[in-house]
Amino acid sequence: MRSSVLIGICSGAAACSLALCSCDRQEPAAQRSAPPPVTSAAPAAPALPPVPRAPELLGALRTPAHNPTTPQKVALGKKLFFDPALSVDGSRSCYSCHQNEDGTGGHEPLAIGAKSVALPRHAPTLWNVAYLPRLYWDGRADSLEAQAKAVWAGDNMGVGQENLSAKARELGASPEYRALFDAAFPAYGATAETVVQAIAAYERTLFCADTAYDRFMAGQSQALTSEQKAGLQLFQGKAACNGCHTPPFFSDAYLAEGGSYHNTGMGMEGKPGAAVDPGRQKVSTSPSDWAAFKTPSLRNVSRSAPYGHDGSQAKLEAQVRFMAGGGFKNPNLDQKMIDKQLSDAEISQLLAFLGALDCPGVLAL
Ligand code: HEC
Ligand code: HEC
Repeated sequence: MRSSVLIGICSGAAACSLALCSCDRQEPAAQRSAPPPVTSAAPAAPALPPVPRAPELLGALRTPAHNPTTPQKVALGKKLFFDPALSVDGSRSCYSCHQNEDGTGGHEPLAIGAKSVALPRHAPTLWNVAYLPRLYWDGRADSLEAQAKAVWAGDNMGVGQENLSAKARELGASPEYRALFDAAFPAYGATAETVVQAIAAYERTLFCADTAYDRFMAGQSQALTSEQKAGLQLFQGKAACNGCHTPPFFSDAYLAEGGSYHNTGMGMEGKPGAAVDPGRQKVSTSPSDWAAFKTPSLRNVSRSAPYGHDGSQAKLEAQVRFMAGGGFKNPNLDQKMIDKQLSDAEISQLLAFLGALDCPGVLAL
């Protein structure tokens, strides 16, 4: 890990310097004239960093009215996110499957839950999840709160819907957590609802809007190399990747109320129809959604291998060739998936451009 704690909640230089200032509460020595008053009260808790400002270029945050983000919830949610005690057997934290080393996506092609339960899909990255109208590869969750509750109860963490309240009470019984829950949710303390609200509040601080591409778009023409500039031209021209990987999120799934799903044929080759993951169709029941998946954001993509809903592609270059080559032919293939006939040099340019979408932040406790 190469960065300080503060970077994880900062979107850019401005937000980071704000956070740094708020922690720097030391008075200059010359002004400390009077001795500190003698008191038996507990020492005041250290000041929390303010909630990071949402980057303007990403638009309005989707924060539900019942769960406004506060510094106290973010501090609690961050601790919960990194704590394996949240899982049924103490083996999995949220972070276990969303690590920096994997670009905040999964390490294994298919995730492995608590008690070593094999899961059917690959873990996506977490940057900018606060802006997604629908979560999961098939869009079955409509808020970060609902999504966090589902992974916590389900096979990922294995706690079970009926045991969430008891688990919350167990966590809240430790003095450290009790203080954090009381500060974040004074009237409620540790409940299943406050656990997921705190985690969601923390997730709403995970911004990625300060990439080389963003600096280029803000007018710094040197922020991209000439190879990357050629890749950007291809991305929105001949290769037409932006038809689905639409800026600023590099996914159209952030821009439509119900999310956006496409069949690219990924993971289908060599599988009989019955073995194919039906994707969005399971949620919408519409045949036109068969084996269609939410378009993943391409921010941080060069660091988030392996790729696809099933993690079946280990290498970014092979993934780009697959997408540019029109995907895998099947009866429901999206009409935009056509062979763009790119040369090797053009594939290299696209790859160089994707590297300009690397996110500078890290998740850190
Ligand atoms: C065992 C691994 C595992 C653990 C533990 C885990 N996740 Fe995930 N996460 C996944 C997988 C796999 C998916 C995709 C599942 C799907 O789409 O069907 C996912 C999806 C998500 C998404 C949706 C992102 C998107 O683009 O739609 C979010 C947000 C998320 N996880 C956050 C969390 C949080 C918060 C926790 C802890 C409460 C957590 N995860 C714990 C594996 C895990
Ligand atoms: C028809 C819409 C569409 C077009 C056009 C498209 N993609 Fe995709 N892309 C998707 C979807 C959907 C997925 C997820 C597929 C799956 O997992 O089943 C995806 C996955 C990816 C991934 C893997 C990301 C990850 O985190 O797993 C990369 C990289 C990618 N596309 C790059 C490109 C490039 C480069 C182009 C242009 C040559 C392109 N795509 C064109 C819809 C599209």
